[in-house]
Amino acid sequence: MPTFEPVLLARINTPDSHTLATYQRDGGYQALRKALDMAPADVTNLVKDSGLRGRGGAGFPCGLKWTFLPKDHPGPIYLCINADESEPGTFNNRYLMEMDPHQLIEGIAIACHAIRSKNAYLYLRFEYGLSYRRLDAAIKECYAAGLLGKNILGKGFDLDIVLHRGAAAYICGEETGLIESLEGKRAWPRIKPPFPAIEGLFRKPTIVNNVETLCCVKQILDRGKEWFQSIGVKPDPNNPRDPGSYGPKLYTVSGHVNKPCCVELPLGVTARELIEEHAGGVWKGRKAKAVVPGGISMGFLSDKELDTPLDFNGPGKVGCLGLGTAAVVVVDDQTNMVDVLYNCARFFSHESCGQCTPCREGTNWMTRILDRIRSGNGSMRDLDLLTEVASSMGIIPGTTICGLSDGAAWPVKNAIQKFRGDFEDYINSGRKSVTPYPVGAH
Ligand SMILES: Cc1cc2nc3c(=O)[nH]c(=O)nc-3n(C[C@H](O)[C@H](O)[C@H](O)COP(=O)(O)O)c2cc1C
Ligand code: SF4
Repeated sequence: MPTFEPVLLARINTPDSHTLATYQRDGGYQALRKALDMAPADVTNLVKDSGLRGRGGAGFPCGLKWTFLPKDHPGPIYLCINADESEPGTFNNRYLMEMDPHQLIEGIAIACHAIRSKNAYLYLRFEYGLSYRRLDAAIKECYAAGLLGKNILGKGFDLDIVLHRGAAAYICGEETGLIESLEGKRAWPRIKPPFPAIEGLFRKPTIVNNVETLCCVKQILDRGKEWFQSIGVKPDPNNPRDPGSYGPKLYTVSGHVNKPCCVELPLGVTARELIEEHAGGVWKGRKAKAVVPGGISMGFLSDKELDTPLDFNGPGKVGCLGLGTAAVVVVDDQTNMVDVLYNCARFFSHESCGQCTPCREGTNWMTRILDRIRSGNGSMRDLDLLTEVASSMGIIPGTTICGLSDGAAWPVKNAIQKFRGDFEDYINSGRKSVTPYPVGAH
């Protein structure tokens, strides 16, 4: 197998990697030039044929999503760039925006040409101050150099990018919550259909794509679809619905490891490889008890599942929700899963937007039940109750508008199924947590 060479992170150690001068010196904006010489539909087909799947969490095929836009629409058509990045443990978009903002801007411009959009809205997580400053400066450089604005590169293509700082809530990352927030409203996800491609921002056709997805688009234009498909995992021949997991992926590793990191690797590496070969192993000479495969909303791998390939299919085969954001969070064997799960539940309860009763109440109930267990008053019945609540909330059981609820349910289902011993010991010992959380404070 040929040695893998990072492309998305290739420039991050270059001095001044965020400036237009170094980006152009390294061949930047040649992919845009190439794209502008192609018909929009040909760019879309190239991206579709490459097999690129969205990197924001759901893994939806990127080029296919672009084809859902109405044909011959008079416009405007919008591109929203999802840089909300609030899934706990996830920081790959931050690397890309801080260290190589022009790679993203070039990907945005190529995507806008493909979908015939003249307006892109970059929705950036509020807390990302350096990303904001770097992107703001890079966008200004582009306007000054004729790479944004009117008649870009003299090829009759117009594009404006609006950099919008987010509202600092997890739900702003859900694509229709993001759209509502951009429109100046509370980020309440919309009932779908209509999907954004038909009716999105300002009720116009809209594509929402993640930062890393758009950086991959730029690389596909540069290197071709064959290059992209030479990396990653081919479709499962026994699963006609599997489009494969092609291309490079940024994995972030954090939690109880010696060296938290963001690394670019072919899709399909295992959690064990990430921990041992890239993150310096589990800290303090301990072992991993549990590993989050892709942000906490995906659930947990047990120590016996560390060799699961982290491609779009792998985590699902061992009972997790999916690959999610490929944010790997390691929990060591000295940590009790009751405490880990309680932290997760608190997060989702706090972040639920409250529109759907099963999510609003369910996330709160689960937090209260876990709080009861942690305060020494739990019973074995609580474990069945937790599982029952978790099984009745989310898009998958069909009771909520958005996937936050599924993300809240999965860690609960996984933790109780895979680490039941931790919960039973906690309940049987009757011990109290040292840091009780005031119920009702979330
Ligand atoms: C609660 C929730 C939070 C989300 N947060 C993000 C986020 O921060 N960034 C992101 O790109 N996608 C996020 N998503 C997924 C988006 O809804 C959407 O699928 C994605 O931005 C599409 O881009 P992609 O196709 O390029 O992956 C979230 C989804 C849910 C349900
Ligand atoms: S599932 Fe939860 S976060 Fe999503 S819309 Fe419903 S209440 Fe809001």
